[in-house]
Amino acid sequence: MAQLWGGRFTKETDKLVCNFNASISFDKRFVKQDIEGSIAHVTMLAKQKIITNDEKDIIIKNLKDILDETLSGKLLITEEYEDVHSFVEANLINRAGDAGKKLHTGRSRNDQVALDMRLYIRDEIKTIDELLFNLLSTLLKIMEDNTDTYMPGFTHLQKAQPTTLAHHVGAYFEMFKRDRGRLADIYKRMNLCPLGAGAMAGTTYPLDREYVAELLGFDGPTLNTMDSVSDRDYLIELLSCLSTVMMHLSRFSEEIIIWNSNEYRFVEIDDAYSTGSSIMPQKKNPDIAELVRGKTGRVYGALISMLTTMKALPLAYNKDMQEDKEMTFDAIDTAKGCIALFDGMISTVKFNKEVMAESAMNGFTNATDAADYLVNKGVPFRDAHGIIGRLVLTCIDKNKAILDMSLEELKEICDVFEDDIYDAVSLKTCVDKRLTIGAPGKEAMLKVISIEKEYLKNNCIL
Ligand code: ARG
Repeated sequence: MAQLWGGRFTKETDKLVCNFNASISFDKRFVKQDIEGSIAHVTMLAKQKIITNDEKDIIIKNLKDILDETLSGKLLITEEYEDVHSFVEANLINRAGDAGKKLHTGRSRNDQVALDMRLYIRDEIKTIDELLFNLLSTLLKIMEDNTDTYMPGFTHLQKAQPTTLAHHVGAYFEMFKRDRGRLADIYKRMNLCPLGAGAMAGTTYPLDREYVAELLGFDGPTLNTMDSVSDRDYLIELLSCLSTVMMHLSRFSEEIIIWNSNEYRFVEIDDAYSTGSSIMPQKKNPDIAELVRGKTGRVYGALISMLTTMKALPLAYNKDMQEDKEMTFDAIDTAKGCIALFDGMISTVKFNKEVMAESAMNGFTNATDAADYLVNKGVPFRDAHGIIGRLVLTCIDKNKAILDMSLEELKEICDVFEDDIYDAVSLKTCVDKRLTIGAPGKEAMLKVISIEKEYLKNNCIL
């Protein structure tokens, strides 16, 4: 294996140690970031007269060639190198000779890898944000189309009060909107440049860290070189945010799975997003929703792994930190895939509006409104609650909904009931009367939809 060190050693590294130590199989993802960082570094070295302009030009030209060739597949990143940093440097020296040997002046792999990871994460945050934006646009469309689609709202998975599909989906809109806010916060906090921290104590070269930070689009340099090479907080924050995104997706998935069941039939998942059974011909399974729900555990796992890896690590860099990559990459890939797939599934799902409304009608979701009706007629709420409780019991006995009871039957339970009860507890009234901001009443809902429409006008929060 081609190595970046050797002077101090008298023996070859054990083959198994090389493999165990190597990170190239996964950090090769950083080739673009590594080269981008190196170009900024040598640009600064030349400005500070640490290398000549000619040397800088040779290095940059060759670095660009190496990037083009690796991206096109002409140059392969092989396991013969320990990591992506040695791969790039060795190839550069091969092509640029002595000038290439100056690339690593005033730099360590510790600040280099810290930089690569930040550059990589910055790009990924933007991609995840875009995916969440797309999902929110899908959800808003569903909300706009369904302000009159009645359905039961649940607590304890028991029918509670009537609501609308727009309101139910709107709850998820708020969750994913907060997730975007979290991403933006993380981005802002992590957008500082660690390059120039060296191994841990900076360097004696007159580096211009502000300049490098500016070249790479950071808000400035990090302010403590030991912290710069050992900070992985932003990964923990990102994994926590992705875990929350997945938790939201898994709740929504669970509901889709329940709604797609024969017992509910609230939705039908599009053929393109469901699968069949190898033995049971009648089956149409909600595999995508189940997989999203299942993969949530994997992203939580990454968060716990990262916290555990970082626990009790002394300052500054420790090789343990190399473990940050695979789990972060896996969590990011998983979350991106799940958001995109879920978006595809939910944008094509068919809502069985009649079944939903029917379900809201049966199950006494209007019982609270019936109690409120009595309160409006002067009955104290606690008494009204008891009266409606008895009414529900009678209805169950007669296998009827409140609306199916005749006025006579109602009056037998409480003589305060009048003809206007039927309108007071109709689905439409029950929903449309709920007009405080955030409630499902149509006017309230339309107001929220217009606020969220405005929010989505600016598609980038970063
Ligand atoms: N592959 C290493 C990592 O991912 C790069 C930094 C190596 N630094 C070192 N001192 N060996 O953390």
